Amino acid sequence: MENYTHIIGCLRGRKIVLGVSGGIAAYKAAALARELGRVGADVHVALTEAGLRFVSALTFQALSGHRVWTSLWDGDAENGMPHIALGRGADAILVAPASADIIARLAHGRADDLLTALCLARDCPLFVAPAMNRQMWENPATQRNVATLRADGIIILGPDEGGQACGETGPGRMLEPGALCEALLAFFTPRLLAGRKVVVTAGPTFEAIDPVRGITNSSSGKMGYAIAAACARGGAETVLVSGPVALPAPAGVRRIDVASALRMRDEVLAVLPGADVFIAVAAVADYRPAQTAGHKLKKSGLPMRLELVPNPDILAEVAARPDAPFCVGFAAESQELDAYAESKRRAKRLPMLVGNLLADGVGGDDNTVVIYDDAGRHPLPRAPKALVARQIVEHLARLLPAG
Ligand code: CTP
Repeated sequence: MENYTHIIGCLRGRKIVLGVSGGIAAYKAAALARELGRVGADVHVALTEAGLRFVSALTFQALSGHRVWTSLWDGDAENGMPHIALGRGADAILVAPASADIIARLAHGRADDLLTALCLARDCPLFVAPAMNRQMWENPATQRNVATLRADGIIILGPDEGGQACGETGPGRMLEPGALCEALLAFFTPRLLAGRKVVVTAGPTFEAIDPVRGITNSSSGKMGYAIAAACARGGAETVLVSGPVALPAPAGVRRIDVASALRMRDEVLAVLPGADVFIAVAAVADYRPAQTAGHKLKKSGLPMRLELVPNPDILAEVAARPDAPFCVGFAAESQELDAYAESKRRAKRLPMLVGNLLADGVGGDDNTVVIYDDAGRHPLPRAPKALVARQIVEHLARLLPAG
């Protein structure tokens, strides 16, 4: 991975101690360790004895790239006291999964194994992600212990409701690794957009020809969704007007689903009042059929002509308003990125535009982009879209007039 230490507020370079206690959800902690590493965290793992019965230390050693600690007594010459050494310099401890037993022990300040001792000796925020059978979760003893943890300033993440490993359904499932990672990211993200309202468009549009056919653009929506997520993490009230994509709404984002460019434009204009920022990431179809057939068109064997009419340019329209918010455009080009991107920025009179080459970003999880503004071009290092989005938000927050 490249060096992202300049990215303020993400997890890059943060020391996160992941405590894994005994429970079926321990297998998901492996995905969590990987996810945290992917967004740049320096992950160190402490496994309880019960946790070791579900997953091996080797798994976490391979995923974190560090020795995994399992006992209070396995210190070496360098780290005589693992419960102190491991917590030293930690930015956060996340216990996931947290069994009913470890929650009880944490609530009572026990220090009878490495993980509890580590939590007791900590000097950083502690996050706990409960995972247990629903009756264990609902038991007044567990609820009492959780209330104690909360009162002590410990952050409880989840649990989720749903099907459980024991076959029952109810509260007690551990939050998914992505949601836990998201919670940590949000915690460490400076609220650069607090008090601001941001409207984002994302995904393709779909221009119907008849009830089953249409014209669309290839766009996964990933970059737009990452931008919306980064705005929400940055404290903005975020509205995402989205074309058809297969992605869940990011945490804390209000999503409005649309299909056509005309609907996208209507919804954008409806939510625009009060917006400080408009970020147009959507790959809007430039044309739509002049007519949409009410019924499925039948083939005739003869050539067919489809009349297309231009769609409104949503971004240009918003940017031209007298009360225009700060507008950010996107441009995906197949060649000559600098020339095309800068000419689009000038044509639409945008203070900021993000450009990328199609080959670098479309559909994938990573992107290589260049930001264009009045001061020139600012290339960003290739990175996962979540990190690219974070940097774009930081850049726009710097350019944003004081609110
Ligand atoms: N955009 C928009 N409404 C449209 C078309 C584009 O809001 N009808 C926005 C996109 O979301 C993006 C930017 O405008 O932020 C892209 O600019 P544009 O010049 O329209 O790009 P392309 O459609 O890719 O232009 P071309 O096909 O000429 O390359």
